[in-house]
Amino acid sequence: MDTNQILKEASRRIYEAVKDMAGTEKAAGNFGRGAGGDISRNIDITAENTVLDYLKEINFECVVLGEECGRVELSDEPKGFVIMDAIDGSANAVRGVPFFCSSLAFATENRLSSITDGVITNLSTGQMYSASQGKGSFLDEKQISIHKEKPLYKIVGINTSGANQEIMKKLQPVIQNHSHLRHFGANALEMAMFAQGLMDIFIDLRNKIRIQDIAAGYIIVKEAGGLLLDEKFNTLDADLSYETRVSFVAAANQEILDDIFPREK
Ligand code: IPD
Ligand code: CA
Repeated sequence: MDTNQILKEASRRIYEAVKDMAGTEKAAGNFGRGAGGDISRNIDITAENTVLDYLKEINFECVVLGEECGRVELSDEPKGFVIMDAIDGSANAVRGVPFFCSSLAFATENRLSSITDGVITNLSTGQMYSASQGKGSFLDEKQISIHKEKPLYKIVGINTSGANQEIMKKLQPVIQNHSHLRHFGANALEMAMFAQGLMDIFIDLRNKIRIQDIAAGYIIVKEAGGLLLDEKFNTLDADLSYETRVSFVAAANQEILDDIFPREK
């Protein structure tokens, strides 16, 4: 089985394990703070253990970087890193808001730019987004791409949760000038939907997002033809450490980017 197939099977197993949990008492519970710094809920732990059990079962030689479990070395000679946010959008999942997903990626080195594979599963529907380096992005069996036509009105995904005053000031013109803003509460799934062409841009400039939340989205956006930039509008890259927090903008093309963030003259 190749790496992409392994991530897909792990993702499928998460879906089977958690699909009936959302919004029930089984999803909740408080297991203290995980490695990523948030409170781990039962649904997070169930999903992570499902992946860890599977990777052990098939003896996949890797280091797992999980949002809750932290760094787990499954081999002395790892082939690379499995970057796991087993449940992205945990708050939605626990309440029963049908917008949460799993995000699994594989990187050969300690950097985002070395990611070769990513899989994001919409855990409300079972639909699976996937990408492998150089092979395009897919939703289930169908190839997807960013929205290519000039939109009649732009759909602007923007994450402002917990943004500080300075960031809000920077975002104020975007918020004021655009009437179709969206924020659904699961960054990875929002990146996948951007890659599918459902939004024209997705903005998260809070400098809060963890590597686990964006790793699979990183390759799915790139392989779907999107621009993926940091807060200075340079190509996004970062190391995979637990301390790393990033800001990013995923844009369908340069024209959309310039329109949303006009360049200073
Ligand atoms: C969260 C979601 C959310 C974003 C938070 C993340 P989690 O991930 O992606 O959209 O606003 O910053 O922490 O905690 O549900 O895995
Ligand atoms: Ca999570």
